[in-house]
Amino acid sequence: MTSMTVNGRPVRFRMEPDTPLLWALRDAANLTGTKYGCGEGDCGACMVHVDGEALRSCLITIGEAEGRFITTIEGLSRDRTHPVQQALVAEQAIQCGFCTPGTVMAASALLAKSGSPSEAEIKAAIPNLCRCGVYPRLVRAIERAGRVARRQERISAAPVPGINAEDAARDVPAISAPED
Ligand code: FES
Ligand code: FES
Repeated sequence: MTSMTVNGRPVRFRMEPDTPLLWALRDAANLTGTKYGCGEGDCGACMVHVDGEALRSCLITIGEAEGRFITTIEGLSRDRTHPVQQALVAEQAIQCGFCTPGTVMAASALLAKSGSPSEAEIKAAIPNLCRCGVYPRLVRAIERAGRVARRQERISAAPVPGINAEDAARDVPAISAPED
């Protein structure tokens, strides 16, 4: 049994300690906002915060995560109004959206450390791959998110949350039973 805190709640996984954190989050905790891309540490789609640091959850085992504080995209902001989320929408830096949760986690960790990152710092801190190629818009969005976080700017057309992320996870289970 491996214990950790996920999105502010104590969690115990009845899984082998060498299970990748990504699998535990998606398949056991039903937190499917964290995406399974390459599974090998290349794409960044699986990024979560581990004790505030953006890490690839496919490369960490739950044994290594024991006792640590994990935040997934579902726990970043209950109403999806984190400045990075607002700015990505406002700058249209989302196309298919597959890379977006991992990118948001990387960018939010960056802004927590450096409120006003330069373009070079953003590019260095966001290694996430985007097959849709939103990179230029992404840099603009993260710069803008920094301004929002510093209260130098407001995004008035912030996305209105449609549904609670936890309700969505309950309504759309990761593994649904086959129909008889
Ligand atoms: S799924 Fe983890 S880096 Fe690609
Ligand atoms: S928006 Fe499609 S992979 Fe990045």
